Amino acid sequence: MTNTEQPRTIHRQDYTPPTFWIDQVELTFELDPSATVVTARLHLTRNRDQPARTLTLDGESLDLRSVSLDGTPLPVGRYQVNEHSLTIDELPDTCLLETQVVVDPAGNTSLYGLYRSAGNYCTQCEAMGFRRITYFLDRPDVMARYHVTLRGDAASCPVMLSNGNRLQENQLPDGRREVIWEDPYPKPSYLFALVAGDLRCHAGEFRTQSGRDVALEIWVEPQNIDLCEHALASLQKAMRWDEETFGCEYDLDIYMIVAVNDFNMGAMENKGLNIFNSKYVLSSPATATDDDYLSIEAVIAHEYFHNWTGNRITCRDWFQLTLKEGLTVFRDQQFTADQISAAVKRIDDVRLLRSRQFPEDAGPMAHPIRPESYISMDNFYTATVYNKGAEIIRMYHTRLGSAGFRRGMDLYFQRHDGQAVTCDDFRQAMADANDVNLDTLDRWYSQPGTPTLDVAASWSGEDQSFTLTLQQSYPPLAKEIPGALGRSPLPIPVAIGLLDRQGKPLPLTMAGETTAVSADTRILLLEQETESFTWKGLTDEPVASLLRGYSAPVRLRMQRSPEDLAFLMAHDPDPFCCWDAGQTLFTNLLLKLADAVAQSQELQLPPAVEAAFGSLLQNDTLDGSFQALALTLPSENLLGQEMSVIDPDSLHQARQYVRRQLARSYRQPLWDTYQSLQDTAAYRYTPPAIDARRLKTVVLSYLAALNEPATSQLVLDQFMAAHNMTDVQGSLILLVNLDTPGRDLALKQFYDTWHTDPLVLDKWFAVQALSQRDDALDCIEQLTQHPDFHVTNPNRVRALLGAFTQNQLRFHQKDGRGYRLIADFVLQIDPENPQLAARLVSAFNSFRRFDKERQSQIKTQLTRIADQTGLSKDVFEIVQRALRC
Ligand code: TRP
Ligand code: ZN
Repeated sequence: MTNTEQPRTIHRQDYTPPTFWIDQVELTFELDPSATVVTARLHLTRNRDQPARTLTLDGESLDLRSVSLDGTPLPVGRYQVNEHSLTIDELPDTCLLETQVVVDPAGNTSLYGLYRSAGNYCTQCEAMGFRRITYFLDRPDVMARYHVTLRGDAASCPVMLSNGNRLQENQLPDGRREVIWEDPYPKPSYLFALVAGDLRCHAGEFRTQSGRDVALEIWVEPQNIDLCEHALASLQKAMRWDEETFGCEYDLDIYMIVAVNDFNMGAMENKGLNIFNSKYVLSSPATATDDDYLSIEAVIAHEYFHNWTGNRITCRDWFQLTLKEGLTVFRDQQFTADQISAAVKRIDDVRLLRSRQFPEDAGPMAHPIRPESYISMDNFYTATVYNKGAEIIRMYHTRLGSAGFRRGMDLYFQRHDGQAVTCDDFRQAMADANDVNLDTLDRWYSQPGTPTLDVAASWSGEDQSFTLTLQQSYPPLAKEIPGALGRSPLPIPVAIGLLDRQGKPLPLTMAGETTAVSADTRILLLEQETESFTWKGLTDEPVASLLRGYSAPVRLRMQRSPEDLAFLMAHDPDPFCCWDAGQTLFTNLLLKLADAVAQSQELQLPPAVEAAFGSLLQNDTLDGSFQALALTLPSENLLGQEMSVIDPDSLHQARQYVRRQLARSYRQPLWDTYQSLQDTAAYRYTPPAIDARRLKTVVLSYLAALNEPATSQLVLDQFMAAHNMTDVQGSLILLVNLDTPGRDLALKQFYDTWHTDPLVLDKWFAVQALSQRDDALDCIEQLTQHPDFHVTNPNRVRALLGAFTQNQLRFHQKDGRGYRLIADFVLQIDPENPQLAARLVSAFNSFRRFDKERQSQIKTQLTRIADQTGLSKDVFEIVQRALRC
């Protein structure tokens, strides 16, 4: 903290409406790199529902120059200013309050508020950055109309953008320029944006379903002007999709996207003026991978979808964040599912949930999707709020069906357009539109932790009945975690199918089930702690396929033999369950082998697993992306979650062993598959081409695991011949782990080719940060001294240090060097960029999952950080909870 006071905790229950509303605001910016003058004229109206009439405006890091009320300057004694606010008593019921402040964009390294990136001005206001620009009621339930005047140097600011419509452009007598913007839609302050500088525009257009023409503009640094086509096409697709799927039409005449290099997150949905991390805008076959192309499409869509779910209807307070984020993630997931394979998209989403959200939900920062309290709201832009939040929305969709969900959305838009609302309002709209009671769904909003779903099956040959007993429970959480105590049973929709012993789906017409999804899939709604469901009149014992499509964000636990799992892999018509059966089969094996490694026993690959792998590899009815996912073993991080004490070394050895054994058994088919997927045509971003590249990459990774001269050469050959970044990166990741002379050559060549392109250079840092070689940490330490490593750039920090914290084997190296390295940088970054430092320090949150020795080493680092004076509240909150819970 800047002073010695303890940071304050804000509680959801303490919400009170504001004492004043701001109907309209006129902002003027006199842009200057180190002293920008901001004048704000607030048109205030007292909120008569509130007894208090004191106005307390939020403001941080502002240099206040003057305050005037209805045109009369206020004497200093008439208001109070402190570090966080400006307070004025005895205001009339309606008045015009004008303040003038000076801010320092060039000195702002936090990338929060108004700052500079690549010599341009830009802003980031969510969640509470607007108060670093001017004094304001910086809370989402205060929705105002904005009129913005930007004045700047004509040479350095040829472009000046803000929200809404461009009203005027003037040449000023002093040689500067002025641009005036007006946003007709009332909005909360977190959606304000301004951008100014030397930018080029890649333009396009869109005609809405009602026939209005919208100008689309993507603004980038001049050298990037040829890298915007995919982003524009993605925007057009998203606009069309939202009209077709939800009837949502765009509402302004212009939609702008700006790409900046220094950005704390992915992108920001400012009304009419999205600001993006350039990583999610710029692409070309030579510089971007298939995954980059896909994430650009998804993030562009996500921010666009916020126009209705977030901007037109916003959050009453920040505890409701999942109202807009969970819903918008769900919408972007559905959009992507409609662009590529829905099955592959679903599997990708579940992988992300399990790898990122599950550990969060089991650790010291565990929180419900609607948190109960925070010290820094910026710490709650989490996988829980976003991705688990999207899973909760998906459960409405699963239970109501897509037509019912659409009815709920229609009512939500109709009731709440222009309002700042709560998660309860959303649930009520869904319930009312479908005339159902969804009250118990509230528990998914208020209870932290990942539920476990235990399933037991029993068969009675005598009365030909099959019974499934479902039981839900919560693994314990530290009692200090809000909401951890007294959790009630949740409504859990379990999508289920039954297969006969030949693998044919059985029609599910028996009693006990609720909603039909299709002829052979039904939803069992588990509402009690334990419930049983029985099917009668079956001629033979069936095999149950459970949690189809991953119908609820739970951990499924069920005794299943390797034979049953292999059977599901071969026959389950639900692609998620088919994939998941394989992953469970692999997980069970790898955990057993890790134990064997720890006890220095001999390792063996069971024939059932070997055969299952072989039939996946040689099944040419599957699409390549699905095959690639199914052939990929669960990551070391994911496997760690399943151990009572994570043992990174044994897990790594077990996984390497299985990879090598599988590669040995299938050397020839792998080789042949690889050759058959070679493609010399120009890069195309189409599903079949992506499928082929994904499968090729996975197949090559198995061949590389053989560590033979011939296979290492194959990897190097791909690197040298590749004409797209997917193939280049796919081979470089493998080379980095190999002991071949080609390794250093490839790294050098990559650097020489790409060192002037920051997004590609990030990949160079990241692949080395993920190296599992014995010397990886030496190399990473050296890279932190590299002239191209800058702690002020979040992308670079995430590429090197963020990626390293995901490298379980090396980050958790027993000597504790990895821990010290990260702690050093947390302390170095915190004074510059608290949000970034807080993300980095979160890597220590899992520390109680490791052995005593590692625990005490991490604790030493956490304590060292906690003892630092002047710590930001962001890092303080994470470290304090890690040490306490
Ligand atoms: N609302 C943004 C989104 O989900 C993300 C966001 C929140 C953000 N806080 C931020 C982006 C701070 C950048 C910086 O799309
Ligand atoms: Zn969002």
